[in-house]
Amino acid sequence: LQHLLTTEGLPKAVIHHILDTASSFVSIGDREVKKVPLLRGKSVFNLFFENSTRTRTTFEIASKRLSADVINLNIAASSTSKGESLLDTIDNLAAMHADMFVVRHSMSGAPFLIAKHLNDTRQNHVHVVNAGDGRHAHPTQGLLDMYTIRHYKKEFHNLTVAIVGDVLHSRVARSDIHALTTLGVPEVRVIGPRTLLPGGLDQLGVRTFHNMDEGLKGVDVIIMLRLQNERMNGALLPSAQEYFKHYGLTPERLALAKPDAIVMHPGPMNRGVEIDSAVADGPQAVILPQVTFGIAVRMAVMSILGGNSGEA
Ligand code: CP
Repeated sequence: LQHLLTTEGLPKAVIHHILDTASSFVSIGDREVKKVPLLRGKSVFNLFFENSTRTRTTFEIASKRLSADVINLNIAASSTSKGESLLDTIDNLAAMHADMFVVRHSMSGAPFLIAKHLNDTRQNHVHVVNAGDGRHAHPTQGLLDMYTIRHYKKEFHNLTVAIVGDVLHSRVARSDIHALTTLGVPEVRVIGPRTLLPGGLDQLGVRTFHNMDEGLKGVDVIIMLRLQNERMNGALLPSAQEYFKHYGLTPERLALAKPDAIVMHPGPMNRGVEIDSAVADGPQAVILPQVTFGIAVRMAVMSILGGNSGEA
């Protein structure tokens, strides 16, 4: 594995290898992550052209736990504001002996473009990790979601998983769907209004529901999504109250799922829009553990790509 750009087509064995490697970084019995020298002497460049709280910070923590030197490029204060192109920026950072680029960009495909450019210019020693590109993919979020599900549910082959909300604009939903189907989850449901579900979901092997109460019946895992207004280009949106009435996860709706169902959310949450605080802060929510698991999962991805932990 040279780059991690998407979960689409990622073999099942590779996904399990990443999850197992992540487990090896977590001390038994707690969620502490050990410091290891796997990326000592390597430079990881965080290039976040779009805002982030969880992903950027956990990549920085993960890089430090792997003993890498981590450089957070301040995009707003960089020479991209003077018109320097994305690929010229990449070439200049590669000339500073970058070993890995962690890239978030609002344009779908930007990390793929960078990876192709590095390969075309024979800079094959530099790795690219997609930290979220437009509405396309967010593979490390998908993988940390799989880690979370495996942590709480142990197996994938007996689960029903529901993904609820704005699937159309969600890179997380796409990465989750690819990973869940590869891992053998027999029933993946998507629940949302027609206007927020993309075409072609049948080809991805998922069941579509427009009625949330029907879609939540008997599920083991609920993954809630935020309305991604920043990707809607001024489309006519339902009001927050209207959306919450039909697609908000309340305690009453959660009771339709299995009694031991877990509630996940990639964050950031909009309380009172897609999720009630009583659920977000309730005993079935595993939203903050997801964030913590993201450190070990990102360590696993970076060490497999650029470290000495073995080949995937
Ligand atoms: N889940 C996620 O990508 O959150 P951030 O945008 O805060 O990184």
